[in-house]
Amino acid sequence: MKELLDILGEELKRGFREAGYDDSKISVSVSNRPDLCEYQCNGAMALAKEAHKAPFMIADEVIEKIKGSEYFSNAECVKPGFINLNINPAFLASYLSEEASSEKFGMEMIVKEKAVIDYGGPNVAKPLHIGHLRAAIIGEAVKRLSKYVGNDTLGDIHMGDWGLQMGLIIAEMKERGMDHMPSLDELSEIYPAASERSKNDDLYKEKAMDITFDLQHGNEEYLKIWRHIMDISVADLKQNYDKLNVSFEIWKGESDADPYIAPMVEKMKKEGYAYESQGALVVDVSEEKDAKELPPCMILKSDGASLYTTTDLATLVQREQDYDPDTVIYVVDKRQDLHFEQVFRAAKKCGIVPEDTRLSFLGFGTMNGKDGKPFKTRSGGVMKLESLLDEVYDKCLERMNQSGADIPEDEIKDTAAKIALAAIKYGDLSNEARKDYVFDIDKFTSFEGNTGPYILYTMVRIKSILRKYQENKGDNGDADIKPAHDEVEKSLMMTLAGFSPMIKGAWRELAPHRICAYIYQVANDFNRFYHETKILTEEDETRQRSYIALITLTLRILEDAIDILGFEAPEKM
Ligand code: ARG
Repeated sequence: MKELLDILGEELKRGFREAGYDDSKISVSVSNRPDLCEYQCNGAMALAKEAHKAPFMIADEVIEKIKGSEYFSNAECVKPGFINLNINPAFLASYLSEEASSEKFGMEMIVKEKAVIDYGGPNVAKPLHIGHLRAAIIGEAVKRLSKYVGNDTLGDIHMGDWGLQMGLIIAEMKERGMDHMPSLDELSEIYPAASERSKNDDLYKEKAMDITFDLQHGNEEYLKIWRHIMDISVADLKQNYDKLNVSFEIWKGESDADPYIAPMVEKMKKEGYAYESQGALVVDVSEEKDAKELPPCMILKSDGASLYTTTDLATLVQREQDYDPDTVIYVVDKRQDLHFEQVFRAAKKCGIVPEDTRLSFLGFGTMNGKDGKPFKTRSGGVMKLESLLDEVYDKCLERMNQSGADIPEDEIKDTAAKIALAAIKYGDLSNEARKDYVFDIDKFTSFEGNTGPYILYTMVRIKSILRKYQENKGDNGDADIKPAHDEVEKSLMMTLAGFSPMIKGAWRELAPHRICAYIYQVANDFNRFYHETKILTEEDETRQRSYIALITLTLRILEDAIDILGFEAPEKM
């Protein structure tokens, strides 16, 4: 389906053409003065010089040509030469009716690509903490968005499962003379203890490093322990991600990249990309255009051990071989930007990925507490993800009790969980990912304002109207949408017509916050409409059916949008 602004833009192009002007740069945009008009076209200004005419004269000639257009109810020139436009309500209504009956509301993506989204990145055997929350929330939204626009998309959790933490755990087990495989509870105690001890005990740390090295080089005893730790940790991770409504198509980790490292390094050496520098193996990745020189990318340490960079490059070898992606997007803490810049450049330079494969880094900022410092528990420790979820859940239960909704006993838990998830995810996603944000539980769980629960509350309100309407009329509201009867209804309609460009923009810019901003506007427009319109008591049946069709479309758009964001709405709240 053609986008509304394109249709309006083409009509203006026709006007300019027929008035004898170059139409190549003519377009229509949403008005930045909604108090004056709905849309605008500023094309006359740029043509004035060449035409030796005042812009308003050109604008007047164009307006003459589009008089009587089916698309506009009003077109007028405002000096020095703006064309202010109002859309014809009849055309807007027919546009929305078509939108309502089209798949994905008429959104068509031209490019359909193969995408791998690398997000999550938990470190096995360490508890999930809130640092992993943003990766999960933003990554899941980007993945769902990618699927929505039609890409063949795979989410890869890329666990940190091959590093020093494994050596530390095994070292500590040996130290204690443990003769059994650790349980999850034991693990959650062993790792911090080992990590703490290694900070002050060099010998101990060295031992852990040796064990890590041996593990990575096939030591059977260590591999057996490692496999056990993986089994119990992955099961636990799955449960935790489940609670966040986050799931992965691919459960690979750094360990899976291991077999690709040796042949990759061989090739890099043979082709002359990798060379020895102070005993280590490196690849130059600096480029002429760099303002600040990028340090060489280290592939192997002098003892032959591989690094974080090495695993990421080898993972690209594996992805290339198994999926052949057009685009790979990494959703990781923005402090890792240098790492990814090195990886991307080395991958291109060494021909690990083709030149035209897009490698993008969506780096996110820190989640801070109200004091502006990285979020901590009340006692000052790093907060575990589970505790945070519980806290938000309790707060939502409290809010539900205050709001006095009559929710059946058996649905209360499920409802509170849905609201809590919306509070957390929307609170995060409504900020530009790259920026830090403040986690404010009171604000995020509020049913009013720019929050997840407010969006859900709006949806629940629509659901309730639709339920009552169906009970009374037994009609499912599949009527056509009729021309708006007032400005408030028209505003809602114009916003709904903007769904498709919004989604495309959010994908192009990898910006889930644009979806949040959009649904906030939809919710506000709807609530204004709701307060000014008697929907259920409207006597004119045609008009009422049109209202129902309009709010049904509103709900469906909100449903798709929050599904992309990774949460859902309850029936009541
Ligand atoms: N495990 C890493 C960490 O906790 C994140 C992994 C990010 N993804 C990647 N392909 N490097 O910092």
